[in-house]
Amino acid sequence: MTETPTHRAADGPAPDPAADVAQLLNMLTGGAVVQILHATVRLDIVDHLAAEPLTAKEVAGREGSHEGATYRLMRAAASLGVLSYEGEGRFGLTGRGQLLRAGVPGSLRSLLLIQAGPSHWGPWGLFPEAVREGASQAKKVLGADIFDYYGQPENAESARVFADAMSDMSALVTHGVAAEADVKGATTAVDVGGADGHLVMTLMEADPALRGKVLDLPHAVDGAVKEAERRGLSERFTGVAGDFFTEVPAGDLHLLKTVLHDWDDERCTRILANCRAASREGGRALVVETLVGELGEPDFAAISDMAMLCVTGGVERDLDEFDALFAATGWRRGRTYPVGGGYSCMELEAV
Ligand SMILES: C[S@@+](CC[C@H](N)C(=O)[O-])C[C@H]1O[C@@H](n2cnc3c(N)ncnc32)[C@H](O)[C@@H]1O
Repeated sequence: MTETPTHRAADGPAPDPAADVAQLLNMLTGGAVVQILHATVRLDIVDHLAAEPLTAKEVAGREGSHEGATYRLMRAAASLGVLSYEGEGRFGLTGRGQLLRAGVPGSLRSLLLIQAGPSHWGPWGLFPEAVREGASQAKKVLGADIFDYYGQPENAESARVFADAMSDMSALVTHGVAAEADVKGATTAVDVGGADGHLVMTLMEADPALRGKVLDLPHAVDGAVKEAERRGLSERFTGVAGDFFTEVPAGDLHLLKTVLHDWDDERCTRILANCRAASREGGRALVVETLVGELGEPDFAAISDMAMLCVTGGVERDLDEFDALFAATGWRRGRTYPVGGGYSCMELEAV
């Protein structure tokens, strides 16, 4: 009998083929899990069950969906801990399921809708090609690069959900940034590619003297203007429709939260150089990104990097890679610290 050779690092765990099979099978359900959650949200099951436990027949009656398939979906969602089984055919909503509702603290609903919807799910369908070509597949599937796609009037609803998804993610980090970042003395903060402007507005709420701007594409900037109204910040806030590859508004604190990871080095250099040109010596910037960690360790950034490759054409980076970009564009990195949700804040000074 011949044994299959098994690679084992000198100090790694002993091979365990049965555990490997179980773990790989579990990984293979990843795509199905996303779509189970997607359907649970799209059929409003989370909202129906938030009010009261219901049977699949009652949910199917409200949604006009197929009763047997609805039952099977609810059973699958219960197996994921999103729904609970309450007995006598009734299902309820768990704390995990609550996070798929809109407007609740910590909601991840919009992020799920984006991950499972056409703008992201479509390009993922061509993922091996993204690796062969080293390029985003968005144009092939959507007919346009991702941010141009969101800018098309017929995709306004997707663009809205994308901005909401960015706000969902922002909720995980903005308070960590506001609590830790040294922004004393700044008078005008510019949230570059700021979407709904959660980061700049959280800083403005913490400092009543701080004025804020969001620079974003024309289709996206209205959301920030409305958000400033909702928070009572309009008098100190300006929405700027523009292109960060062309020009960035002047300020003494530039914010770049999950913007650089959307772009390759050449385009990041243009964004950072435009921020530097809009700053002054001693001016500051905060860059919030997930940082690629140790090779071979579980790493959210390494996984997210695959989404960047496939969907936006961008890159997740480690600290050395960020430092090279900063040094090439007139910025020096200072304090760097985690701010929640797997993200870190890098404080920069213009030199
Ligand atoms: C990943 S989102 C991050 C949004 C926000 N900073 C946040 O973290 O919530 C990237 C943002 O960059 C904006 N964007 C893309 N291309 C742009 C451009 N050329 N000029 C200005 N903004 C742009 C997008 O519209 C989007 O709002």
